Amino acid sequence: MSDKNERRAFPDWEKLYKAEPVEKMPWFNPELDSDLAEALEALDIRGGLALDIGTGPGTQAFRLAEMGFEVTATDLSPTAIRKARKAAREKVLNIDFRVDNILATRLSGKFDIIFDRGCFHVLPPEQRGVYGEAVEGLLNDGGYFFLKCFSHRETKVQGGPYRFTRKALKEAFGPAFRAISIKDTVYQGTLEALPKALFSVWVRK
Ligand SMILES: C[S@@+](CC[C@H](N)C(=O)[O-])C[C@H]1O[C@@H](n2cnc3c(N)ncnc32)[C@H](O)[C@@H]1O
Repeated sequence: MSDKNERRAFPDWEKLYKAEPVEKMPWFNPELDSDLAEALEALDIRGGLALDIGTGPGTQAFRLAEMGFEVTATDLSPTAIRKARKAAREKVLNIDFRVDNILATRLSGKFDIIFDRGCFHVLPPEQRGVYGEAVEGLLNDGGYFFLKCFSHRETKVQGGPYRFTRKALKEAFGPAFRAISIKDTVYQGTLEALPKALFSVWVRK
């Protein structure tokens, strides 16, 4: 069961990125998310146009660019984008970082893969439909959408992101997307006990 009706509170993202080094944030993972790495390997996807929604520290965008993807990475927070852009420049990585609210996206064009590691699960429940339509509109025919979010099995973290069941994800994305896989996993980051998560792979119907 998802806690769809329970209202959760989130930080002011811009204030947070101004106040804290990204390396201290619970979601900071310098490596490519291992579930995404596995999925890309299994699907034999080695390049193309990639979008990282809610990129935050930008680490996922960095790793995808290093693998040869042409990456666009967006976040609501101008400071997150400014910091990620600076870090990418230092690594000599060419990534199109943009300030963008996925719920009122100004992105145009289509992507071969879209990755969301932790943005969807912080959005207001009533905006999930808007989010799904945005992702649908930004994905190429035959493209893949990869989503990592907290699982309903995560009970130790106080507050934090919305939790999801497989059923809730299928309700949110089922109308427009076909689920290739939804697996139990963890959300890698800086917390001692890694939160329980779901990693799902979708294609447009
Ligand atoms: C839990 S963090 C995950 C950051 C990054 N994906 C990672 O794995 O390191 C969620 C991110 O989503 C961003 N965000 C929240 N709402 C957003 C929105 N409506 N549009 C775009 N980004 C958003 C936040 O600023 C934050 O950086």
